[in-house]
Amino acid sequence: MRIAIIGCGYVGLVTGTCLAEVGHEAICFDNDPEKTQLLLADRVPIYEPHLEELFLRNRRRGRLRVTATAGEAIRTAEAIFICVGTPPLENGEADLSAIDRVARLIATEADGPKLVIEKSTVPVRTGLELKRALGVYARTAGHRFRVASNPEFLREGTAVEDFLHPDRIVVGVDEEASEQQLREIYRPLLEHRFQCPVHRDGCPSDAPPFLVTTIASAELIKHASNSFLALKISYANALAELCERLGADVEEVTRAMGLDPRIGPQFLRAGLGFGGFCLPKDVQAFVRLAERAGVDFSLLREAEKINRRQVERFVEKIRRALWVIRDKQIGVLGLAFKPRTDDIRFSPAVELVRRLQQEGAQVRVFDPKAMPRAEKMLDGVRFCRDAYEVADQAEALLIATDWPEFAALDWERIRDAMSRPLVLDGRNLLDPVRMRELGFEYFSMGRPSGDCWPLN
Ligand code: UGA
Repeated sequence: MRIAIIGCGYVGLVTGTCLAEVGHEAICFDNDPEKTQLLLADRVPIYEPHLEELFLRNRRRGRLRVTATAGEAIRTAEAIFICVGTPPLENGEADLSAIDRVARLIATEADGPKLVIEKSTVPVRTGLELKRALGVYARTAGHRFRVASNPEFLREGTAVEDFLHPDRIVVGVDEEASEQQLREIYRPLLEHRFQCPVHRDGCPSDAPPFLVTTIASAELIKHASNSFLALKISYANALAELCERLGADVEEVTRAMGLDPRIGPQFLRAGLGFGGFCLPKDVQAFVRLAERAGVDFSLLREAEKINRRQVERFVEKIRRALWVIRDKQIGVLGLAFKPRTDDIRFSPAVELVRRLQQEGAQVRVFDPKAMPRAEKMLDGVRFCRDAYEVADQAEALLIATDWPEFAALDWERIRDAMSRPLVLDGRNLLDPVRMRELGFEYFSMGRPSGDCWPLN
């Protein structure tokens, strides 16, 4: 099928590339000329595992086109995915102005009927408004647009894999024809008719459930899922605080909890809290949505509150370990909001660096992928070549993102390089017993401090 993607951020680029990979003809448009120029020159502006390889392959095959002209993308396509950003407004609500702009573009540029699919995370009723807007803007052209909601559940860092092997495909429709068209789009995934580039030696072959719902339910499913994930993380973080006070180990507690299939093991990792461009803004928008609907969903506000205090709690631990933070040489490992991405939007690691700077620390940092982005955002920080340079003469080393490569570092070399072998692990990445055996003073989140001076 000929499919247009409007908006080439994480979601749009992965969607367009993967749709081309499974056999469709995708054409991508973004209104940022700089991004478009990069894409036209076959350069992928974000880091996401497997994305570049698939992007280039499908460009070569001619199945993935990029255009600087919205009209070309819109006219070429039978179905149009809207993948533009819905950033938070001051009051926490989602800013839908980009969706409105795209609706106007589609309505005025289309040369016939189209299926318009919301992929961006939007509040309930956006589909209705979108349909109305398309009608209003297209009044003179007289085209008929169908609207559907098809929320994306991909996670940064595993986005390609999540797209090709989704846990579920949700389509919110109000017409049979839209359902059929979406089934066609996803047929290669439903029938597993593609060569998996991720799991080369055998990948999950079960067809994902294809759930057909109303448009409103589909819109709600996305917000409800992300908010629930946020709740789980905040639960683990509150539990970690309690464990610290009571001498228990949050890792032991959550491991046992997670074995109950009703709870499940995922998203119970305590640490610096959730960041990124999805969870924090989606929880906020969901809270606002509930307020406007007259429903008291203060449970979610609590989750936000717990999340906000994680970095502060960590800074407090640093202060107790160092006594005075001002003028101390502090190394920070990790800037991305989570591993396997270069995304630093709403990253707890970046917030931590800023807090340390406010306290007067001398901060040096390293991240395997996020340095170029961070260099544009952080002033007065020393950007290092690797973790060893960060550790050199540092009085404390902090783990702010749980990149697996940090666990595999030569920790003896790090110990010898530091002026004081003090590690504060904000992501519970390292093994406390081993770290202490190596001679580190080691502190983490919700785990006993061992023989170290208690920080709790
Ligand atoms: C999230 C959802 O997981 C996806 O399902 C959803 O499609 C996506 O938002 C979206 O709305 O587009 P993502 O933002 O890529 O995906 O990141 P997550 O893997 O959810 O992690 C979010 C944050 O929570 C990270 O900062 C991570 O470090 C933190 N986290 C995660 C924890 O602190 N503890 C955990 O146990 C899990």
